[in-house]
Amino acid sequence: MRLKDKVAVVTGGAKGLGQAICETFAKEGAIVIAADMTELSYQADNVHGYVLNVTDVAAVQDFFTEVVERFGKVDILVNNAGITRDAMTRKMTDEQWSLVIDVNLKGVFNMTRLFGPLMETNGYGSIINISSVVGLFGNIGQANYAATKAGVIGLTKTWAKEFARKGANVRVNAIAPGYIMTDILKTVPQDLLDGFAKMTMLGRLGQPKEVADATLYLASEESSYVTGHTLDVNGGMRL
Ligand SMILES: NC(=O)c1ccc[n+]([C@@H]2O[C@H](COP(=O)([O-])OP(=O)(O)OC[C@H]3O[C@@H](n4cnc5c(N)ncnc54)[C@H](O)[C@@H]3O)[C@@H](O)[C@H]2O)c1
Repeated sequence: MRLKDKVAVVTGGAKGLGQAICETFAKEGAIVIAADMTELSYQADNVHGYVLNVTDVAAVQDFFTEVVERFGKVDILVNNAGITRDAMTRKMTDEQWSLVIDVNLKGVFNMTRLFGPLMETNGYGSIINISSVVGLFGNIGQANYAATKAGVIGLTKTWAKEFARKGANVRVNAIAPGYIMTDILKTVPQDLLDGFAKMTMLGRLGQPKEVADATLYLASEESSYVTGHTLDVNGGMRL
């Protein structure tokens, strides 16, 4: 049990990658709070659903207060909630731009500015931000999404420095998944997905569990000397 007695908060934990992360953490002994705009699409022992929009500053504050009151501490935060609103740059609306920035970047900030200092005070914590290959390499039609996922890597390095500066054992890392089979890919045409699979060394798209296992590594003591790092989980997409 690699996360015995740990308390973990996972945003976007209702389905997809977030669900796989919640289930994996719970199996390893953690108490998991899955914070998502929607109710959980599944049931798992020790995974508690909490309806939360990470863009709502007041709601995030209430969530933080309630979690700390109920569980006493938070050891692990996974900033996983994310959305896409794709369009070519010349056609991208202000709404498409702002919504993606608000959820994928500001949402990560809203959560971490509360939970990061709590971990610093407690002297212990692991924060994992879910970035993307798109944040590393860019992608046509995803200027908004690429900006947020690159931004998350900047936040990761900043927080790795900030929360550990007084000697607290708080680590902050990112994961950059390649193309993983979840609902977020529903809007991507099949021929493009086939192309992405061919770009990998392993010749296939990824499964949510494969990202969850990488997240488990960064959440657990097995990665005790890893911080400020962005871990590729992409089947060898660009080597
Ligand atoms: N699937 C992939 O190929 C892939 C690749 C790289 C990165 N990612 C990233 O992984 C993360 C999870 O993606 P997924 O593939 O599981 O997508 P998904 O659409 O299956 O799940 C995303 C979850 O986030 C929740 N969510 C959306 N907006 C929210 C908000 N404002 N507040 C709280 N919850 C919110 C949704 O309700 C949903 O449950 C995202 O950050 C995504 O950008 C996914």
